[in-house]
Amino acid sequence: MKHTKVKDLLNSAPGLHEVKAKGWVRTFRNNQFIALNDGSTINNIQCVVDFENTPEETLKRITTGAAVCVVGTLTESQGAGQKVEIQVSKIEILGDSDAEKYPMQPKKHSLEFLRENAHLRIRTNMFGAIMRVRSTLSFAVHQYFQEKGFFYVNTPIITGSDAEGAGEMFRVTSLPFDGTPRTEDGKVNFKEDFFGRETNLTVSGQLEGETYAMALGQIYTFGPTFRAENSNTSRHLAEFWMIEPEVAFNNLADNMDLAEDFIKYVIKYTVDKCGEDLKFLEQRLIDEEKSKPQAERSEMTLLEKLSFVMDNNFKRVSYTEAIDILKDSKPNKNKKFQYLIEEWGADLQSEHERFLVEKHFKCPVILFDYPAKIKAFYMRLNDNTEPGRDTVRAMDILFPGIGEIVGGSQREERYDVLLEKMKALEIDEKELYWYLDTRRFGSAVHSGFGLGFERLVLFVTGMSNIRDVIPFPRTPQNAEF
Ligand code: 4AD
Ligand code: MG
Repeated sequence: MKHTKVKDLLNSAPGLHEVKAKGWVRTFRNNQFIALNDGSTINNIQCVVDFENTPEETLKRITTGAAVCVVGTLTESQGAGQKVEIQVSKIEILGDSDAEKYPMQPKKHSLEFLRENAHLRIRTNMFGAIMRVRSTLSFAVHQYFQEKGFFYVNTPIITGSDAEGAGEMFRVTSLPFDGTPRTEDGKVNFKEDFFGRETNLTVSGQLEGETYAMALGQIYTFGPTFRAENSNTSRHLAEFWMIEPEVAFNNLADNMDLAEDFIKYVIKYTVDKCGEDLKFLEQRLIDEEKSKPQAERSEMTLLEKLSFVMDNNFKRVSYTEAIDILKDSKPNKNKKFQYLIEEWGADLQSEHERFLVEKHFKCPVILFDYPAKIKAFYMRLNDNTEPGRDTVRAMDILFPGIGEIVGGSQREERYDVLLEKMKALEIDEKELYWYLDTRRFGSAVHSGFGLGFERLVLFVTGMSNIRDVIPFPRTPQNAEF
C-alpha cells in the first residue's frame, strides 16, 4: 500500500479502511500520541499508538525528529484541534533520531540558532510555512506572466557585462591564484582564462532580457542574481532571486501599472492558497511583537497588511515631490536622519524610503523620475527638464517594512543618447555592442523592472530578516551549506 500525504488524510472522512502515513515525529506524548508531520501541511496528524501491544524497544525509538511509517485506521478524533486521527496498528521506525542530540527540540528556538541549523530548521512549523509560501509565490509569478502571454527567458548566469554598472560583481575564473598568467605589462592575462575574457556572475538579466523583449515582445526572467556588495543588512543577500519582466512598447506609466498589477496578483494567489501557513505566520508576528513597545508594534496584522496592499492603489510620487516632503519632515529638521536631505539630487537612503512609506503615505509608494546621476546608464532621459536637473524615467516601488522592493525604468531607446551616456560613464561600447544593436536595428520604447523575490517573500511572510526567507542564505562571511 502506498502512503497518503498527511494533508490529504486530514481532509479525508474517517472510515474503517487502512491508511498508511510516513513522516517525522514532532512530539510523542504519554507514550501514546505521536504528532506526525510530513511537510505537506503545517498541521500534524495525531497517531495513537497502542502502547500496551507495542514493544518497549519500539516505543523508545519514537522520538522527536525520527522518521516513521504508521499503518492504521483513520478515525474521528476525540481530542480537540483535529477532526481525524490514526489508530495505529503497525509502526515502523524508518530512521532514528537521538533525542539528546537532535537540535530541533520541541521548544522555541532563536532565529539565530535556526539560521545556524538551516539544514534542519525546515523541520519547524515556522520554516515549513515560510518555504511553502515561497514555493507558492514562485508559481504565482510564472502563472501571472504566462497568463498574460509573456515568455520566460533564461538569461546567462555567467556574463561579461556589468548590467548595473555598480561594479559589485563576483568574478568567475579558472585561472590559478599562484602563477596567474600575466601579459607583458604585468596585468592578468584573461586571454588564458576559461572564456578567454573577464567574466562574472550576473547582477541582473536585464540587458540580455531587453534583446529578447525586442523580438518576443513581452518576456520575463526569474533566476538567481549575485551581488558582492558588503551590505550586512536584514534586506541584502549576496545571492538572491530576481524577477525581471521587459516589455516592448511599454512606457514608464505602463511599467508602473504592470508592476502594481503583478504584485497584487501574486499576493492574492498566495493568500488564497496558503491560508493556514499565513495564519500561523500572522500569529508568529503577533507573538514576536509582544516583546516590543506598543508604539513599535504594527497597526495591522499580517493578513490585514496583505489585504491592504491588494485593495489600495500604490501612491505614485515623483522624486522631486518626495525630496520636498523629506526636506520638510520632522526627522530631517530634528536631524534624526543619519543622512540629512539638503538638496535636490540627494540619493535616497533606506531611512528616507521608510519614512515616506511608513510615516508619511502609509501605503506602498512608487517613486519615479529620479535624478539621472544617481541611476543606471540605460534609463530613458526625460525631455524638458530644468537646467541642471536632468531626470530619468526610473521607478522604485517602496513597501512598508521592506523599503525598495522593485527597481525599474523606461529604457533609453535613442542610440545617440545612449552612446553618449555610456561614453560619459566610461562604459566600453565595444563590450556592449550587442546591447547597442537593439537601438541600431528596430529600436522602440520599452520598459521593465526587477523585483527582488526574497523581499517579496519577506513582506508576505511578515519575517524581518531576509536570511529567513531563502533556504541557505549567502551573506558576507557566510556560505555555509
Ligand atoms: O534596483 P535593482 O538593482 O535593479 C536592477 O537590477 C534592474 N536591472 C532591474 C530591471 O530594471 N530589470 O534591483 C532590483 C531589485 C531591488 O528593488 C531589490 O528588491 C532587489 O532587486 N535587490 C536585492 N535583494 C536582495 N539582496 C540584494 N543584495 C539586492 N539587491 C537588489
Ligand atoms: Mg534599485
